[in-house]
Amino acid sequence: MKNQTLKWILVVGARPNFMKIAPMMRAIEAHNDKSSTKICPFLVHTGQHYDVNMSDSFFKDLNLPEPDVHLGVGSGTHAEQTGRVMIEFEKVLFNERPDLVIVVGDVNSTLAAALAAVKLCIPVAHVEAGLRSFDRSMPEEINRLLADAISDYLFTPSADANENLKREGIPEDKIFLVGDVMVDSLQFHLEQAKKSKILEKLGLRGKSESSIPDPCSAEHTSPGHNPCPVKRLPREMRSLFHWGEACFTGAQSKMRDPKSAIQNPQSIQSYALLTLHRPSNVDDKDAFLRIINALTEISKRIPVIFPVHPRTRNQIEAFRFQHYFVNFTNIESPVTNNRIYLMDPLGYLDFLNLMAQAKMVLTDSGGIQEETTVLKVPCITLRNTTERPITLSQGTNVLVWNDTHRIKNEAFKVLDGKAKRASCPNLWDGRASERIVSILGQYFKT
Ligand code: UD1
Repeated sequence: MKNQTLKWILVVGARPNFMKIAPMMRAIEAHNDKSSTKICPFLVHTGQHYDVNMSDSFFKDLNLPEPDVHLGVGSGTHAEQTGRVMIEFEKVLFNERPDLVIVVGDVNSTLAAALAAVKLCIPVAHVEAGLRSFDRSMPEEINRLLADAISDYLFTPSADANENLKREGIPEDKIFLVGDVMVDSLQFHLEQAKKSKILEKLGLRGKSESSIPDPCSAEHTSPGHNPCPVKRLPREMRSLFHWGEACFTGAQSKMRDPKSAIQNPQSIQSYALLTLHRPSNVDDKDAFLRIINALTEISKRIPVIFPVHPRTRNQIEAFRFQHYFVNFTNIESPVTNNRIYLMDPLGYLDFLNLMAQAKMVLTDSGGIQEETTVLKVPCITLRNTTERPITLSQGTNVLVWNDTHRIKNEAFKVLDGKAKRASCPNLWDGRASERIVSILGQYFKT
């Protein structure tokens, strides 16, 4: 019957949105398989990110359907971008008259879509609500505060987010602690990601055994931790294992599977992975240089792999910083120490594979702080605040800002075997989207 079908609009705009919406789409599909109330998902892409490797490749990797509507807003100032999304999205709302709009994260598209919807009295669900860096100079913090203030259903990834929302006077009955949808995507795609050929492309797989860390060296064990199971294997086999362990058992058991090591006998060279795009780090020449100085020191001990955001590439050119980096496209010999390797942004699966196998990740991203915690890969965050404090208290994350000395110190701690240990936050189990759809399904029961 007609009144048993609901139309939910899901909005994506920028790179960090895609891996949050993909599991929501799957959860809706699963809901439709078992419920008499059908949900018709309608996917809107605002076009905030538009490059093939910032958008299209994510649709492919995450198996997202083509958007039902593409607003094509592109880049601009914050007001231009936010305003254009509002104007174009309002037209979609008039045409489609959805029962609900779902927005994720904290980008300009998130706020703009939520604002356009509430003004038309359409209920809004905000996924990844309640995160606060308490730094209002970050555009994302403004987007978070405002999106949360106007949304009807607020889905949080961790208990600290619930506390933030309550402190801001948001009624408790609007707030739902469900876990982290980004972890849903990570868990769903990790095995597939490990088949990506990015390590071979970068010359990081197939090095001599001596160049990779022994998973049972002091560096990877610490007092009070489980003895390394790999220790029971002959030494020549131990080095075939990567030392990283994901939170969840499926991935962990696969990573520890001796057979997979035998089938894939090529070892992996240690490397650090870097992402950098915050305006506070890359638009300020001195701040950017402080970071580069630390990276240059770190790269003397371990190669640094740097898939670069278009904003950052523009700034490297504007500041004439090119000489600090090796352009990967010009590489004729394999990756070596003493270098920072610059390359185009990577797709979801390639990046996830690189992250899972990295010795450490240096980043100013939000989501990567969560992903590294789940993967138990050391994360050195080039910011002075985080809206994800659970990654500090429970995860592998440390904050070092753009302080040359602190960046180098933390990286050297990892290289010297003193990395932080992590445990997996509550409900980061790959089922957050399922919980969200189930809760919303109750509210919208016909
Ligand atoms: C946006 C989000 C940020 C998120 C980041 C992930 C806001 C306020 N910021 O920042 O929270 O961490 O996405 O990438 O929403 N550009 C391209 N091609 C693209 C997209 C951008 O060349 O496909 C360049 C343009 O020069 C553009 C600049 O990057 O002006 C910045 O893009 P924008 O979407 O404004 O912000 P991000 O820095 O990507």
